[in-house]
Amino acid sequence: MIIQKTTNSRISTFDQDNYSFGDHFIDHMIICEYENGKWSEPKLMPYGQLPFSPANMAFNYGQACFEGMKAYKDAEGEVFLFRVHKNFERINKSAKRLAMPEIPEHVFVDGLRVLMDVDRAWVPSGEGNSLYIRPLIFATEEGLKARISNKYMFAIVASPAKSYYSEPVSVKISDYYSRAANGGVGFAKAAGNYAASFYPTQLAIEEGYEQIIWTDDATHEYFEESGTMNVFVRINDTIYTPPTSEKILDGVTRDSFLQLAKHRGMDVRVEPIAVKDVMEAQKQGTLKEIWGVGTAVVTTSFKAFGYENTRYALPELAPEDSYAMILKKDLVDIQTNAAPDPFGWREKVEKNILETV
Ligand code: COI
Repeated sequence: MIIQKTTNSRISTFDQDNYSFGDHFIDHMIICEYENGKWSEPKLMPYGQLPFSPANMAFNYGQACFEGMKAYKDAEGEVFLFRVHKNFERINKSAKRLAMPEIPEHVFVDGLRVLMDVDRAWVPSGEGNSLYIRPLIFATEEGLKARISNKYMFAIVASPAKSYYSEPVSVKISDYYSRAANGGVGFAKAAGNYAASFYPTQLAIEEGYEQIIWTDDATHEYFEESGTMNVFVRINDTIYTPPTSEKILDGVTRDSFLQLAKHRGMDVRVEPIAVKDVMEAQKQGTLKEIWGVGTAVVTTSFKAFGYENTRYALPELAPEDSYAMILKKDLVDIQTNAAPDPFGWREKVEKNILETV
């Protein structure tokens, strides 16, 4: 790996008490370029701007995908990554679907480890805090012909993060817009999936909601995801989440929640969630919780949902009665080395890792 460290760290000017999600970047980034059918040697360099023409194919045709990951600091100041290989596998699934070259494992994994080691001072400690890491791949060829690009860049940037949404939010169950369709790119973390969600979300915000529960494009009768997250529903004491599919992202937090819930002996069902069953449970008073999970937020609880012009309040549960909050704590305790990790998910970032890559 090529190493070009900054001589001008910005960390002393970063106000650790006053920042918002995704607005500040750590001192370094990783970049690796693809040309003539192969990836170059990855490079650690100071975080900064890169020169791209407006004719860059990623800007015009959307060949771009990304991952969301986090690093955590424990009480002793050690830094940990979480389920790195799940994100590595998924970025390559996304890349493949977007006709982009897959990234070699050593570029992704060593890049992460080196960046986290060199910039470990940027990983915030304290409850709910973490360093949000964004690996991404995008086309870099200049050209306007609509075709597969011949040049790409893989990059890893990172940004200190407090919890992304802290308060419970209201969601609208979509009866028109969709985020994915059969045969489409819903399972991929394609940048365009997020672009396409902004307008419907804006309309939902104008109606007094913060997020959308995305339903299937054909009938709008089944839950798929919520906002930028996977969705869970609790009816009585049973937890439901839809199975992953070509329309639903195979979320790392989703999978972790499922395993943690099973580990606790909770009744968990991975099956389609029909809007009509949710509405029936609402009527019967058995609908206890709906929540979203994702790397950035970990968990967002929903306090209300809207369906066909009516708003329904969800019960306000104490944290010890909320399955969403119980599972969130289980997960964060593992991520931050505050509890044993029976699943082998946590990975300590070794010091001076540069010597080994
Ligand atoms: C994540 O949870 O990592 C996401 O991808 C959401 C992102 C759009 C902030």
